[in-house]
Amino acid sequence: MCGIVGYIGDKKATPILIEGLSKLEYRGYDSAGVAVFKDSSIHVEKYKGRLSVLADNIKNKNYNGSIGIGHTRWATHGAPSDRNSHPHTNHAGNIAVIHNGIIENYMKIKDWLIEEHNVSFRSETDSEVIAHLIDYYYEGDLLDAVFKAIEKMEGAYAIAVVCKSEPDKIVAVRKDSPLIVGLGQGENFLASDIPAILKHTREVFLIENDEVVLLTKEGVTIFNELRQVQDREIFSVTWDVEAAEKEGYEHFMIKEINEQPRGIHETLHRRLNQEGIIELDGIKITKEDLDRINRVYIVACGTAYHAGLIGKYAIEKFAQIPVICDIASEFRYRDPFIDENTLFIAISQSGETLDTLAALREAKRRGARILSVVNVVGSSVDRESHDVFYTWAGLEIAVASTKAYTTQLTAVYMIALHMGITKGVLSRERYDDIISELSTMPEKAQIILDNYVIAQQLADSQFNNESVFFMGRGLDIDAAFEGSLKLKEISYINSCAVAAGELKHGTIALIEEGSLVLAIATQDRLYEKMLSNIKEVKARGAYVVAIAKEGNKEVEKSADTVIYIPDTMDELTPILSAIPQQLFAYYVAVARGCDVDKPRNLAKSVTVE
Ligand code: AGP
Repeated sequence: MCGIVGYIGDKKATPILIEGLSKLEYRGYDSAGVAVFKDSSIHVEKYKGRLSVLADNIKNKNYNGSIGIGHTRWATHGAPSDRNSHPHTNHAGNIAVIHNGIIENYMKIKDWLIEEHNVSFRSETDSEVIAHLIDYYYEGDLLDAVFKAIEKMEGAYAIAVVCKSEPDKIVAVRKDSPLIVGLGQGENFLASDIPAILKHTREVFLIENDEVVLLTKEGVTIFNELRQVQDREIFSVTWDVEAAEKEGYEHFMIKEINEQPRGIHETLHRRLNQEGIIELDGIKITKEDLDRINRVYIVACGTAYHAGLIGKYAIEKFAQIPVICDIASEFRYRDPFIDENTLFIAISQSGETLDTLAALREAKRRGARILSVVNVVGSSVDRESHDVFYTWAGLEIAVASTKAYTTQLTAVYMIALHMGITKGVLSRERYDDIISELSTMPEKAQIILDNYVIAQQLADSQFNNESVFFMGRGLDIDAAFEGSLKLKEISYINSCAVAAGELKHGTIALIEEGSLVLAIATQDRLYEKMLSNIKEVKARGAYVVAIAKEGNKEVEKSADTVIYIPDTMDELTPILSAIPQQLFAYYVAVARGCDVDKPRNLAKSVTVE
């Protein structure tokens, strides 16, 4: 996710901006820039790469202004580059803007500015639109111009704006992306997150959604969207810097688990046009392409592979194309059936997993069309693919993948739906129904997160188990594979996931008095079968925790505990059933005193074979 900082006061702004951005590096970025005043002009310095590249390039330029804004960019639209970096300016270079988020209707605004007002753009970003839009409305009052501009903008954004003609103020806006204001003596600060300003002040205004902020060195004024001045209590920060980076959560993992509703929402909603049709921005798979494709491979590792299993189900069901889902480290040595009629989908959070990259290269060499699902723009998998679907999960720091997984699921559902409707094998009515239900996932995920204590209490009573079993049928076994991986990789408990119908062919020999079994039982058409399997393990003394859809009370007669997820269509339950399993794994690991964010022997990105 991008990082924003701003300063207005009597000190030189540039070092304060650079230091503030350095405290936001944990948010992940691929470029950095500042807009600072010098001799009453705005100077923009911005470079692809680490913050040090920016710092080295400006250290001898003596930007002595005492107002400025700074930005670290996590690319969403437009690959990492100097010109795609922020700040962006209007044509005259007298208005500079930094932005965290995505302007969903930026193409519509961009086309309007180009066609109606002959505006020329320098970058591929959505953010540059903001600078030109404010310029269009500017008539000598920056605050007024910003109010008018944001009326046109749709999406999630935190922005900060400076203007050459008004060098005594910064205007900032918050809509869905984080923004805070730091309060100083004769100086004021703004940032995406508290760590950026902690060195200077612990007194903060927390800016709420749809609020506009006017910063001068004398004071801070907060307006609502009706331009009415808002009162705001000062929030005194007691956290240390590390706690602040986790925004008060104990670990990055639980923070990222709780960021899933937003990640799912952003991954989905920014690709739905006004008619509710998915627009896979930049993915150019036509009906002719799909009519020619007779096989799909989905290849990945670990959690991404588990997302691929759901993708296999979704593409076969919605697009009616046979799918082979394979582990990347195995794929290359199978002599796979790949040719120009194959669509190869690589899924990778980091985009740097060498096994996945090697498999992609092998498929490409054999003529396949390469579509990748990645969370890191500009990563190797991204750059070596023909088409890319970015999951907008934001930076995932914890080694155990959570929000990347559920946004990968969202991605594969969207790709499958797009393929089905494009091929003409999925009715528009069914398409609309699924998208409509997919749109409820963020709020349904939030309901599960709000009831996290159920998983926490279960973990507190069960964390001493040294082996745990996960079982399910259909999509639930695919979801169970991921739940089992989550538990083992952060709690070091030996867990396994087994198809419930397969239990009797061997694994049930391991079930004994007190064995913990998590039974994922969300598939209506397989529910009765799962009830039988629960009884099967109960008869051998197992303690069974079922994950079931709200309303399916029958399971309470068999399982010892039931964690309910909100009702939804069978096809989409993996997005929701993942969350109780993530929470359970997290709280077990915490109870066992494990290093939750950095589990032993593991790396966030496995760049070796
Ligand atoms: C998931 O929790 C693990 N950290 C691991 O399995 C991971 O999913 C796998 O290494 C693939 O990583 P990638 O998505 O970055 O390619």
